[in-house]
Amino acid sequence: MAPSSNHHAKKQFGHSLRADFLIADDYTLMNHGSYGTYPAVVRTALRQYQDRAENCIDTWFRRDMYTEVQKAKEKLATLIHCHADDLAFIANASTGINSVARSLPFQSGDKILQLSTIFAATGATMRFVRDTRGVELIILDPTYPISDDDLVAMIEEAILKEETKVGVTGGKIKMAVLDTISSTPGVRVPFERIIKLLRKHNILSLVDGAHGIGQIPLNLHETDPDFFISNCHKWLYTVRGSSILYVAKRNQRYIHPAITSEYYKDHSDLSDMSETFHKEFSWQGTQDFSGFLTTFAALEYRESLGGEEKIQEYCGNLARRGGELVAKILGTEVMENEEKTLTAMMVNVRLPLVAHENDGYYMERFLEEGAFKRKCFAPGYKYKGTWYTRLSAQVYMEESDFEKAAHVLKDICEQLEQERLEGQKK
Ligand SMILES: Cc1ncc(COP(=O)(O)O)c(C=O)c1O
Repeated sequence: MAPSSNHHAKKQFGHSLRADFLIADDYTLMNHGSYGTYPAVVRTALRQYQDRAENCIDTWFRRDMYTEVQKAKEKLATLIHCHADDLAFIANASTGINSVARSLPFQSGDKILQLSTIFAATGATMRFVRDTRGVELIILDPTYPISDDDLVAMIEEAILKEETKVGVTGGKIKMAVLDTISSTPGVRVPFERIIKLLRKHNILSLVDGAHGIGQIPLNLHETDPDFFISNCHKWLYTVRGSSILYVAKRNQRYIHPAITSEYYKDHSDLSDMSETFHKEFSWQGTQDFSGFLTTFAALEYRESLGGEEKIQEYCGNLARRGGELVAKILGTEVMENEEKTLTAMMVNVRLPLVAHENDGYYMERFLEEGAFKRKCFAPGYKYKGTWYTRLSAQVYMEESDFEKAAHVLKDICEQLEQERLEGQKK
């Protein structure tokens, strides 16, 4: 049974919800997207599970934990429209990406197609596969704010080019890596259309949906990716270290956890149809499984706010309105395409900064001046020579948070510009 949590009367979105979260009163959190944060009821649930485990570790680790994990997977499967047995709990997106990329039987000369906007660690994992397996990477570099149509066309063109070279469907491209919503820039990728395109060309899809669950509606049954990973701790309000890996049934025999399980079994004999996917992922060494089980309290809390649609509607509108307000105060613009599909709950706004040759220095200064000194931080990042900030919208926020962030960012940019000009004078 899931630990009990408070039953909430329907609540108003905005600052009154701050009381439910653990964010310090004097901190303006504009960066929910990086690490996520959770309400106090989720912390209570975490501790109840931990206590339950300690009450009798044998009963917990030999029986009850498995039952609860299965129930949590069923909850998540209902939310994202897939079968619970196609899901495995993993610690984070990096673990999921590594599990898939290191397991697949790539041959030297195979190719992996990826977008330049994938997360740094995901890109590094692909380079590892390149370096250890002789796989070639094809990296496509769209320029945002690209339209969805143009992005899909760019990918299709690259696939067709490869097919012409090799003369078979998909050419040597065995897999493509793409996001649901990328990190920097924090933009929604038309992953549903891209997955369909890949399938048509016989190319496996590895979808890094780290930012997906809780931020956008997901229907894996309809989109049918080969591999899909999402961090429940980012936007779904579970505690950190709680993510899911979906592997379509047709691929499960190939995939093993990044940490080899005692249940490991080689499936290279294709006549052997036995599956160990579920078992291998169920135990990858001793760990605290309580974080996965905060799924129940997180989803219950979300229900108390009106459910997924209401949360996504409030946060989506706030991101769009807040982004416009920040752009107005900064005298810049929001990164958005003509179809207006890029902004989900994160919005990207150009910063009034001339590019600096040392990106790391500016990023550090944003952290220092924003998070540490002014207690209001939205990350700054350089994209193709231009500085942007990424601001996250959440249920506990209002437009006034974006206004505050805009003034903090303006202040920091003015300070950095002054330093740059003074440096030039010397
Ligand atoms: C798009 C994307 N992929 C992967 C990751 C890595 O997630 P984790 O640190 O949970 O492995 C992040 C982290 O922010 C991300 O934004």
